Amino acid sequence: MTALVVVGTQWGDEGKGKIVDLLTEQADAVVRYQGGNNAGHTVMFGDQTHILHLIPSGILRDTMSILGNGVVIDLPELLKEIEELRENGVEVKGTLHVSARSHLVMPWHRLIDQLREAGKGEKKIGTTGRGIGPAYEDKVGRRGIRMGDLRHPKQFLDRLEEIIAEKNAMLNHLYDASDQCFDPASIHREYLEYFERIESYVTETPTLVNSLVEKGRRLLFEGAQGTFLDIDHGTYPFVTSSNTVSGNACAGGGIGPRHISDVVGIVKAYTTRVGSGPFPTELLDQTGDSLRSVGQEFGATTGRPRRCGWFDAVLVRYAVRLNGITSLALTKLDILDEFETLKLCVGYRMTDGSTHTDFPFEGHEDVEPIYEELPGWKTKTAGLTKYNDLPMRLLDYLKRIEELVGAPASIISTGPKREDTIVLNPDQFWKS
Ligand code: GDP
Ligand code: IMO
Ligand code: MG
Repeated sequence: MTALVVVGTQWGDEGKGKIVDLLTEQADAVVRYQGGNNAGHTVMFGDQTHILHLIPSGILRDTMSILGNGVVIDLPELLKEIEELRENGVEVKGTLHVSARSHLVMPWHRLIDQLREAGKGEKKIGTTGRGIGPAYEDKVGRRGIRMGDLRHPKQFLDRLEEIIAEKNAMLNHLYDASDQCFDPASIHREYLEYFERIESYVTETPTLVNSLVEKGRRLLFEGAQGTFLDIDHGTYPFVTSSNTVSGNACAGGGIGPRHISDVVGIVKAYTTRVGSGPFPTELLDQTGDSLRSVGQEFGATTGRPRRCGWFDAVLVRYAVRLNGITSLALTKLDILDEFETLKLCVGYRMTDGSTHTDFPFEGHEDVEPIYEELPGWKTKTAGLTKYNDLPMRLLDYLKRIEELVGAPASIISTGPKREDTIVLNPDQFWKS
């Protein structure tokens, strides 16, 4: 079997970019299968820091990188990202492939996302404002524009006229934004210019991916966001608009499930969330502030401060099951180096007094976390690269997490850089 999927097990920003970059060393191709430039994946090595939004993190190792059919693409943003990489010495020509079936995030998607959020006031979802929700709505509503549609200028114009008439009616009558209406002819011109610059990258990625599968090549599927932002399984409606779970690597990447051998769940040693929505272990006190400042918890895409809290084993256990996680990559343990004691949430007490160890359908806002307390290790672990150098108390914390969530750790990350990593058994991936 040839496919390994990397998924976030919490609310995103678990360190997927770092781990994907690390595992890419052993991979022949990296595929993004969902989401868009709402993602922000940080990769650090040497003195370089890269934040990737759309392009798979594999690009930094000059490995074939594919934007699959399940991704939604803001074309000018993709061109900007290509240009930024080029300026930093990373050439994507020949390495990057873009699915003709991927849907475009158009300017009205961005605008409607922002207008809707502004209109919701207190009830806003706290989206990244990148137009992701409206783009997926139009995909499912069969009003989307696919990358490959731009190969046919006449049909593209017909489609724009039909779609823009509807969008302008919404802007005029629903959002009182008649000054922001769109003109089909100028969008047509603008997007055909963009397309000229990207056309040589556009291909039938499912065919490409399956030809790699047939040759026995190692594929790495890079998830974006996290399990609890999944449209089906997350804390709806405070979620993103795609399926973020590993199963979507198949639909969004174009492979059959039998090819997946490993699912690596990325787990932050505590919990963070950006945007609105329930967060049972959130800390609105000084401990939460410490996690934010020591952990540098500010959004890689929007720069917003991330909400911080203790590790929630109820969430991650559910994520292990939903994604079929075969092993865990634990990140940011070093951020806990100075804490006197650490809390692990092992269950939820509901308002009616009942307790749950499985993630419940409702009542997330009001649950009271049931905590277990462990002593901190109070030793600097940042940058350690040998398992035997890890303090006993850190290993106890790690082992308790493994027990509670039902999956073994395969990678321990001790810092943001590629080299700050302990891989427990480097030969274990892509084996079964
Ligand atoms: P992603 O969206 O899951 O790729 O994660 P982000 O890049 O948005 O956020 C993770 C942040 O944590 C980035 O700034 C990483 O450089 C950083 N990071 C990843 N792993 C570690 C780690 O083990 N320790 C520390 N201190 N930072 C880490
Ligand atoms: P990575 O891949 C963290 C959150 C937003 C908001 C909700 C919906 O870097 O982990 P959207 O713009 O998708 O409609 O916003 O989802 N969100 C993320 N939070 N990490 C991300 O990506 C996110 N992508 C979206 O903050 O709450
Ligand atoms: Mg991120």
